[in-house]
Amino acid sequence: MDKNSFSIALIPGDGIGVEVTKAAFEVAAKAAHGSAASLIPITFDWGTDYYFKHGAMMPADAIDSLRRHDAILLGAVGHPKVPDNITLNGLLLPIRRKFDQFANVRPAVLYRGVSSPLKGLQAGDVDMVVVRENTEGEYAQIGGFVHETHPQELAIQTSVFTRHGVERIIRYAFELAVRRDKKRLVTSVTKSNAQGFSMVLWDRVFQSVAEEYTGIQTESLLVDAAAMNFVRRPQTFDVVVASNLFGDILSDISAIVTGSIGLAASANIDPTHRFPSMFEPVHGSAPDIAGKGIANPLAAMISAAMMLDHLGLNVASNKIEAAIADVLAEEKIRTPDLGGESSTSDVASAVLARL
Ligand code: NAD
Ligand code: IPM
Ligand code: MN
Repeated sequence: MDKNSFSIALIPGDGIGVEVTKAAFEVAAKAAHGSAASLIPITFDWGTDYYFKHGAMMPADAIDSLRRHDAILLGAVGHPKVPDNITLNGLLLPIRRKFDQFANVRPAVLYRGVSSPLKGLQAGDVDMVVVRENTEGEYAQIGGFVHETHPQELAIQTSVFTRHGVERIIRYAFELAVRRDKKRLVTSVTKSNAQGFSMVLWDRVFQSVAEEYTGIQTESLLVDAAAMNFVRRPQTFDVVVASNLFGDILSDISAIVTGSIGLAASANIDPTHRFPSMFEPVHGSAPDIAGKGIANPLAAMISAAMMLDHLGLNVASNKIEAAIADVLAEEKIRTPDLGGESSTSDVASAVLARL
């Protein structure tokens, strides 16, 4: 396959995942075409419907099937009729781990034409990115039950922090702050006042990596104070680096502060390019609005733009960003989460028209 042709694994998944992935792929394919590149989609019907039929969220050889693609575009996973630990541990989380997609990159930008629920914030005031460790930490899945379902039952869930894992995500955050060249600030978020081992290791590694980046300012916050400051002073952040769970929680706050979770994109990146990286909106399958055709597809589209950027198609990626910024700035076509009345496909058509 030549370098202008990219094989994309599409996993629409559940609920609104199906609706937003369709829109996002159309937009990505059109933008790539404008850069004389083509995206070849292969759709995998994995997810909860697949689970109802086959008793598993994806087939046993799923990872091998995905391995040969250049990137993965995923919608969302989760269904009200199946426990989340089965659906998510059966599909999304193993892909992040098996492909060592250790950097989960979640930008939050306050676009022109979008209002923040916080008073006084203007477009452009918030432009930050949460860099979340994505393969270990609180999500390491180490633990188990004893005396399961009996009155004396016990559950153990252990966090795992390796120096290797901590150092590479912190280094990724510093490199990103250099590349962004905005505030040149990296904020590290821990809870080392209470978690005296894992988070102390993190703080130590943060300090030593910081010494290598003399042109980058640093800040260390405890996660409770960080949550408050995401609301109190979101405009002061640039790159924020945090563990798997803390980054998960904080990236919902950065999302809503910039208007809607329907705008929050994310990339699960293997920076070494040994494996395909995976691109997906921050939001879930949103069962409350699934099937109504009103899901905001912009988070998925921005995720697809991040995918193009990762594949080296930065011009096409920037075109998607610009088209979305235009549509938002016009304040006409927008889904209900942004205060509008448009449908998912209205928004998709508006973005496609601008490409
Ligand atoms: P959610 O993100 O699905 O929904 C939270 C709220 O935001 C809902 O009111 C929903 O309608 C709204 N919302 C989300 N995305 C939207 C969009 N694009 N446009 C408009 N409104 C949007 O979170 P939840 O309700 O906590 O979880 C629902 C299911 O999704 C659960 O099964 C959960 O485990 C799963 N989940 C999956 C992922 C993923 O696959 N990456 C992420 C988060 C949650
Ligand atoms: C996310 C989601 C997932 C996570 C869930 C669904 C397991 O909330 O991508 O933010 O916690 O990573
Ligand atoms: Mn989340």
